[in-house]
Amino acid sequence: MPTRSPGNSAKPPARTAVCMGTGRQNNAPRQRSSAAERPFPWPFRGVATTPSYDTTDIRSFFDRCAATGSPEQHGHARRLLEYRLTLVRSLARPRPTDVLLDLGCGNGHHLLALGPEVARGIGIDVSPGMIELARARLRSSPLSGNLSFEVDNAEQLTGVADQSVDLVICIGAFEHMLDKRSVLASIHRVLKCGGRFFCLTPRADYVWYRSIAPLLGIATKHLSSDHMLTHDEFFALLDEAGFRHSRSVPWTFIPKGDMPATAALLLTVLDAIGRHARLDCLRGGLSLCAWKGAKPTSQREDHR
Ligand SMILES: C[S@@+](CC[C@H](N)C(=O)[O-])C[C@H]1O[C@@H](n2cnc3c(N)ncnc32)[C@H](O)[C@@H]1O
Repeated sequence: MPTRSPGNSAKPPARTAVCMGTGRQNNAPRQRSSAAERPFPWPFRGVATTPSYDTTDIRSFFDRCAATGSPEQHGHARRLLEYRLTLVRSLARPRPTDVLLDLGCGNGHHLLALGPEVARGIGIDVSPGMIELARARLRSSPLSGNLSFEVDNAEQLTGVADQSVDLVICIGAFEHMLDKRSVLASIHRVLKCGGRFFCLTPRADYVWYRSIAPLLGIATKHLSSDHMLTHDEFFALLDEAGFRHSRSVPWTFIPKGDMPATAALLLTVLDAIGRHARLDCLRGGLSLCAWKGAKPTSQREDHR
């Protein structure tokens, strides 16, 4: 999930940095402006967007997050973790014989929870700080014999052999990865035939990102290089990478730590409306599973 910013780097703002909104000078003439440009008299300006140009910037940002212990920012940690695990289990169905690879594993909490349900689990992350956190949790876990955590870049996955993995999961990390085509090509390479790729990611056309936050002048990007996709963009990339069978369901993702409490309340109501009216742009996230090769016919169809 997007993480609260640990502070800005000294580099100049990137072109893609989110506009934080600028107040009109008192003596400046009033001009017509679009909703996206209009300043809003709101004290909350959103997250501090850290300029980011390359993997080194992303690594150091998440190393600084790791130094704070990387706590959950968007709600009750245990409940949100259980909800995400439910989505993994219902869409991707981990099996006792599976080799499971967690991309952008962060502090390792998803892999540690799923470890007892699979044969072997590998967590990789580009941030050495995050991998240290995950290894520390692993050392204190009683059910840890089949898990390991390594520093690696999801764009290359240099430490993972071709066709050696049954299930790849990527939770709240894909939006931070720079070269999404390379990431998907690597996933396709390491998956066995019939293997699954499961991803939870915020969607670009979420009403908060697309309309409400710009209207209020609230910044939503933690790293200027963060890039979310719409459902159709993601599925086009999956198809390009060779995944011919994919399905998705909405994921209730409300980045509560990045917004005022009133906005979080409004988005909770909109999420409930979206759930009943099947308006996916009112739901913050996308939960998807893609199969390398044929999709098993036994997969259920509705997990809204
Ligand atoms: C918001 S954290 C999410 C961590 C974890 N999956 C969770 O849900 O708690 C995103 C993680 O993705 C990692 N990451 C970003 N780009 C990466 C890349 N190219 N390869 C591997 N990890 C990456 C970051 O270091 C960070 O730990």
